[in-house]
Amino acid sequence: MIDVKRIREQFPIYKKYPNLRFFDSGASALVHENVIKKMSDYMSYNGTNVHRGVYSLAYEATNLYENARGVIAKFINAKENQIIFTKSTTHSLNMLATSFKSILEPGDEIIISELEHHSNLLPWLNIADELKLVVRFIPLENGLITIPNFKSVLTTKTKLVVTHHMSNVIGYVTPIKEMVKLAKLYGAYVILDAAQSILHIKTDIQDLNIDALAFSGHKLYGPNGVGILYLNDHLSEILPPAEFGGEMVDTVNLDGSTWKTVPYKFESGTPPIAEAIGLAEAINFINDVGIDNIHEHELNLRNYCIKALENEKGITIFNKAHDSTIISFNIDGIHPHDTASFLDQQGVCVRAGHHCNQLTMRYLKQDATVRASIAIYNSIEDCDILINAIKETRDFFTSL
Ligand code: ALA
Repeated sequence: MIDVKRIREQFPIYKKYPNLRFFDSGASALVHENVIKKMSDYMSYNGTNVHRGVYSLAYEATNLYENARGVIAKFINAKENQIIFTKSTTHSLNMLATSFKSILEPGDEIIISELEHHSNLLPWLNIADELKLVVRFIPLENGLITIPNFKSVLTTKTKLVVTHHMSNVIGYVTPIKEMVKLAKLYGAYVILDAAQSILHIKTDIQDLNIDALAFSGHKLYGPNGVGILYLNDHLSEILPPAEFGGEMVDTVNLDGSTWKTVPYKFESGTPPIAEAIGLAEAINFINDVGIDNIHEHELNLRNYCIKALENEKGITIFNKAHDSTIISFNIDGIHPHDTASFLDQQGVCVRAGHHCNQLTMRYLKQDATVRASIAIYNSIEDCDILINAIKETRDFFTSL
């Protein structure tokens, strides 16, 4: 059982805004106090670069950074050299798509879905265009990816399966384990965008048996500016770097250079050091509370909100039939931006728009939706205020 009062005391923002009702953790979660402290300590009392200096402060910075890698590796059950620090999920996926260009050929097929965030759609559509790859979309069933529908697009030419773990608009969870089993029968690689799921669902890359995975620090109660790219041993061996510069190179020659071993071959230039340290601290916090406890708390709140809103007139919920930490809805006839602005007047923060996911909007036949995303610091009181604010917004506009 989560003690929300105790949890909130650990998020400094509530000291400044005690009445904040934050339901936009799907975009960026609030930052835990230990994250801020660890980052501040590094920046105040160290601030040096990693893997370069031979003085003790630089050694200390390298140790902090590499220890952070260890915490992150353990969190997803990977090896340390399989964890690559990037700037964000978007950066991880773009790097991956660029690297994949060297092993794909015209006519190779990529399987993807209409539920992808633009970060996990556009890099692949872009290389598909450039290399003349065939893109196959998994037909959806009530917004869900199903195994029979996935099977219907798998062929002997499938080289890549690219999917999200949890939709950022409707929160559905992809049946990834079964998909991987099937994809492997066809020799295809599976890439997982875990940006939304990483905060809610225990992610074990060995159990899932995926080839690559991406997520960000800012959705994990950590800082923005840091992302993770996990690559399994096979991919990290055969893929070339996507970016070049300092510290990723072994020998530089005019007629060709050689790269360091992983993960360094994929980490060019000065990495996000403070952010990596901060992300590891966020993971320590999540481990302390327990990700399953966090998820149970979120689902209880989500079910409470759905129950209160599902039979309300004039409110359409797009994902009420499924367990998820996201509630995507619209008030009939009211633009989602107007709804979000009204909710803001009561201290309620939600996201409104197409959520960087225009294909899902088209699937839902909406231009935009309002999205309330639930996290560890949300309480029943938050939910009551959210529910009432939604009803009042509807009543105000319908009375005009
Ligand atoms: N990808 C983030 C979201 O869905 C920003 O809100």
